[in-house]
Amino acid sequence: MAKRDVWGSRTAFVLASIGSAIGLGNLWRFPYVCYANGGGAFLFAYAVCLLIAGIPLLMLEFALGKRMDNAAPGAFRRIHPKFEWFGWFAVGIGFVIVTYYSGIMSYCINYFVYSFNLSWGSNPETFFFGKVLGMTDQPWELGKLQWPLLIGLAIAWVWIVASVWKGTKTVGKVVWFTVLGPWLLLLIFVIRGVTLDGAAEGLRYYLTPEWSKLLIPQVWLAAITQVFFSLTVGFGVMIAYGSFIDDKTCIVKNAWIIGLADAGTAILGGFAVFGALGHKALIDGVAVSAVVKSGPGLTFVTYPEIINGLPFPQLFGLLFFTMLGLLAIDSAFSLVEGVSAALKDKFGWSHKRSNITVGLFGLALGIPYMFGAGIHMLDIVDRFMNFFGLTIVVIGECLIVGWVFKASGMRRFINSHSEGKIGIWWDIRIQLILPALILLMIGFEVYERIMGPYGDFGLRSQEFIFGWLVIIIVFVASILISSVKGTPEYEGRISEIRKDIADRSGDTRGEKS
Ligand code: PFF
Repeated sequence: MAKRDVWGSRTAFVLASIGSAIGLGNLWRFPYVCYANGGGAFLFAYAVCLLIAGIPLLMLEFALGKRMDNAAPGAFRRIHPKFEWFGWFAVGIGFVIVTYYSGIMSYCINYFVYSFNLSWGSNPETFFFGKVLGMTDQPWELGKLQWPLLIGLAIAWVWIVASVWKGTKTVGKVVWFTVLGPWLLLLIFVIRGVTLDGAAEGLRYYLTPEWSKLLIPQVWLAAITQVFFSLTVGFGVMIAYGSFIDDKTCIVKNAWIIGLADAGTAILGGFAVFGALGHKALIDGVAVSAVVKSGPGLTFVTYPEIINGLPFPQLFGLLFFTMLGLLAIDSAFSLVEGVSAALKDKFGWSHKRSNITVGLFGLALGIPYMFGAGIHMLDIVDRFMNFFGLTIVVIGECLIVGWVFKASGMRRFINSHSEGKIGIWWDIRIQLILPALILLMIGFEVYERIMGPYGDFGLRSQEFIFGWLVIIIVFVASILISSVKGTPEYEGRISEIRKDIADRSGDTRGEKS
């Protein structure tokens, strides 16, 4: 068998996984989702979902990649050939996410340039929605192509592909800079945020729970999907990253480290954002709720406003958007690695060919978001990919690994690759609790969508159809690609491959003493 890419060191693996997890999800998405779902109550739901779902699923994905020695499609294929499509579906959902994610990176790149002379002026809201986005009134009115955004998108993709040019070797080096750099910058923003006049009011807003929100199923759906998005679970990425780990890497411990680092960063980031919002409310003499712009515009409207009021605003602007860019880059390239690894496994493509193909497709599919209607589409696709895409993937993962491969077998494998051990409670969660709970949450969401008005546009049914159409396209593409023949090695006899992997990975199928 061809030799598989392996992480240069265990630290490289942990940093790369943390880099994939920590991204715009922590600073761009987490604050507005938290705000919209009850502040402190959401934090509680988020913590519960992290512990019962996020971290156990991270273990599952690492173990699946390692056990099957393959990225997502090959890994599911090795459980049973008829599940290969499901692996493509997972990376397909991740791929759709990265097409708009790179769009937000383009906003960051543009704002980095705008920071030099604070181009947003005294009215960042008008600037963002008008000049930067050229936003149309509704999603069906395409509007004009925004050239600076398109250029930013092209730069983002060149940067992403360059970062993974030589696979785990490049990634292992790049992540030192892209993980530790933004952490330091974030610390500056947290300290600055909480020491601003009026910060306390913002933090009160962030941390005070509206407990009644916990009775609303959608709040739990928002929390669990934010956990998946933030941990990069359900994208197929962590399966690919797991397939590159060596035999000595402890799966349980690292899943905990990565999960807690990610959640810690999101919660800490909230202090920076809400501290600054409190400050802005004080200056404007209004309530915090009046300055919080919910939705994907939060970062690009509120922050420039806040930066305007700081000493050395240009410097803070440059640092802030550098931080966002660095946060985003290792998440985006992890997805490219996930898709490229799958293409290399199946078709035996070279690393360069896979990366360039993924990069070009990503760039092309990102172009629609660069039009005036882009932010509407982004909002709809984001909601659908998270509420339905990632959740469907996670339910499928739980059922396939839990019942077809058997959760107990995977648990034994995890335990034989970990110092800390997990017990039967893990099996119960994977086989029963998670699929049932997530299905219930999705059920409520679908019911609400069908019965109640959708979003702000009042175009409920059309958006609903558009969102599902994207999911159906990913599904059909997955079936098609899985029906194409792969290399002989990939297509090889599953039973022999399984035995070979088991021998090489020391899977004794028994508890390690
Ligand atoms: N975990 C990432 C974040 O929180 O920002 C989400 C992500 C998005 C990962 C897009 C990978 C990706 F391609």
